[in-house]
Amino acid sequence: MTSVTSLFAPVEADLCLLTENLKKLVGARHPILYAAAEHLFGAGGKRVRPAIVLLVARATILEGDITPRHRRLAEITEMIHTASLVHDDVVDESEVRRNVPTVNSLFNNRVAVLAGDFLFGQSAWYLANLDNLEVVKLLSEVIKDMAEGEIQQGLNRFDTTTTIEDYLQKSYNKTASLIANSAKAAGVLSGVSSDTANCLYHYGRHVGLAFQIVDDILDFTASTEVLGKPAGSDLVSGNLTAPVLYALEEKPYLEVLIEREFTQPDDLKQALGLVEESQGIEHSRELAAYHAKAAVQYLSNLKASESSQALIDVADYVLSRIY
Ligand code: IPE
Ligand code: IPE
Ligand code: MG
Ligand code: MG
Repeated sequence: MTSVTSLFAPVEADLCLLTENLKKLVGARHPILYAAAEHLFGAGGKRVRPAIVLLVARATILEGDITPRHRRLAEITEMIHTASLVHDDVVDESEVRRNVPTVNSLFNNRVAVLAGDFLFGQSAWYLANLDNLEVVKLLSEVIKDMAEGEIQQGLNRFDTTTTIEDYLQKSYNKTASLIANSAKAAGVLSGVSSDTANCLYHYGRHVGLAFQIVDDILDFTASTEVLGKPAGSDLVSGNLTAPVLYALEEKPYLEVLIEREFTQPDDLKQALGLVEESQGIEHSRELAAYHAKAAVQYLSNLKASESSQALIDVADYVLSRIY
């Protein structure tokens, strides 16, 4: 499996600087909020989103260094992502994230909601200070999309009439919108043509969809230790993701189990068995592979460089997580 570190080699130094800056940016307005934020930033995720922003920045500025605005955009992107995770863990009642206790479990839901709001608010302020209206529009739409995605997911729990299209729409809102719009924004800050900016958007959109589909497959196939967050939790909470939606096409009894919300003993075990026996995981892999491949096709506008190659490799890395 490609390691994230070697994949992000062209921006490794940039990512180290990013981590330092994030700690400073979050600031210490209030000890509890500071503790919550530092807890999350300190624990460190994979940094996929800021790495993509920095790689796009390097791939579109071929001479000279990337600008402080590119760096700030990468920081904002990770801040928005972390804010969404803090809220997502409240919604999902998750106790572990990035291998450490979540803000909601360490403190409580009230603190986690406030801490997430604080990070969203802080990111909006830094965003406005980039002084680029187009970038402000791109990233503020993301914050709206994320909230809409969580609402769509909340409303469709245990709804077996959910289609793959509904699922992809929700996944765009929750996950792909941030990657798409931040990749485009990095291009906008470099002054690329509107054609190239749109290609970067579509690259990010497809990478984001592949990323979410892979995350949803891993929820069925990986262990909690490997993920650093609870595995096997989507189905229990009624989040019907790609593997289940495909399995439903083959296994009608799965619908019965989901509709009664796994209230009988062994319902959940049976449901997991049906998903496993079906082609659900395999079809989901194919869907993820389709989006990873589609992503790469949108990079043809970029001049060949170490960073543009790394953007191609990101698509492979996303898929490699399930093999
Ligand atoms: C988790 O994102 C949420 C999804 C969109 C699946 P990541 O898997 O990128 O989380 P971290 O940042 O590495 O913790
Ligand atoms: C992505 O979806 C989370 C956000 C974009 C907020 P998930 O709900 O699958 O994320 P995990 O699995 O909790 O990381
Ligand atoms: Mg979740
Ligand atoms: Mg998940």
